[in-house]
Amino acid sequence: MDSNNKRVALVTGATGGLGTAMCKELFKDGYHVVANYRNKQKADEWYAMMRTEGMDIDMFEGDVCDFDSMANMIKDIETKIGGIDILVNNAGITRDGRLAKMSKDDWHAVIDTNLNSVFNATRNVIEGMVERKFGRIINISSVNGQRGQFGQTNYSAAKAGLHGFTKTLAMEVAKSGITVNTISPGYIATDMVMAVPEKVRDQIVAQIPVGRLGGTQEVAHLVSFLASDDTSFITGANYSINGGQHVY
Ligand code: CAA
Repeated sequence: MDSNNKRVALVTGATGGLGTAMCKELFKDGYHVVANYRNKQKADEWYAMMRTEGMDIDMFEGDVCDFDSMANMIKDIETKIGGIDILVNNAGITRDGRLAKMSKDDWHAVIDTNLNSVFNATRNVIEGMVERKFGRIINISSVNGQRGQFGQTNYSAAKAGLHGFTKTLAMEVAKSGITVNTISPGYIATDMVMAVPEKVRDQIVAQIPVGRLGGTQEVAHLVSFLASDDTSFITGANYSINGGQHVY
């Protein structure tokens, strides 16, 4: 909580498409929102844009791939603002390509940013949450972690691993008032999806029964739901939000 008794919500990779929508939604819900970023120039522009929309969101620099960077950033947030009540592990990248062509760097970059990051951030908030007997950890996975996607061995492996993390941590901290859940978005209209070649993207959209890409706000709404104090019996779950693209 911050000094005004507002719950503190930290979103990693906040300046991307999904992260931005999440920060806005959590701000509207009345949380003290803290946005993590890595690129200073992008962060400055983002902050200015949020201010023009009337949103005052604190920003903290930190590299999710680096354990010490996360440890220092989280310590700084907890000293300056207060204990982190809600952590949204949202930072993620793609480096698509068939395995036969994939470089070691592209493998490691995706595993570091999409999976090791979740350890780096969560490990540094979990003890505080246990002490305070409250926490909401929301891990942003992907439909492509639930099924395979041609060209994404690195991304699918990381995103599938992330839900394994969710299920186990949910058991470990259930008695401490902490819930841990996964959200698995399908294809959402973000820069990441728009980077897929148009022809390939059109084929993907054709496989979505709802007939369109998802909206970032639709995912943010689910984050807001899981962040709430009222969802204390939901833990270890994986919420699909994919327009019916993958049903099982
Ligand atoms: N199924 C079967 N074969 C496929 C295929 C598919 N889905 N996609 C491509 N291929 C085949 C092609 O037909 C071609 O085969 P031939 O050589 O026999 O003609 C071969 O693969 C081409 O392979 P290349 O290695 O030359 O690759 P490319 O330059 O064409 O690109 C790719 C391949 C990078 C995978 C490209 O198709 C691509 O970007 N696909 C989209 C991947 C994707 O969906 N990424 C999601 C990004 S968004 C995201 O990740 C967010 C989220 O969570 C949902």
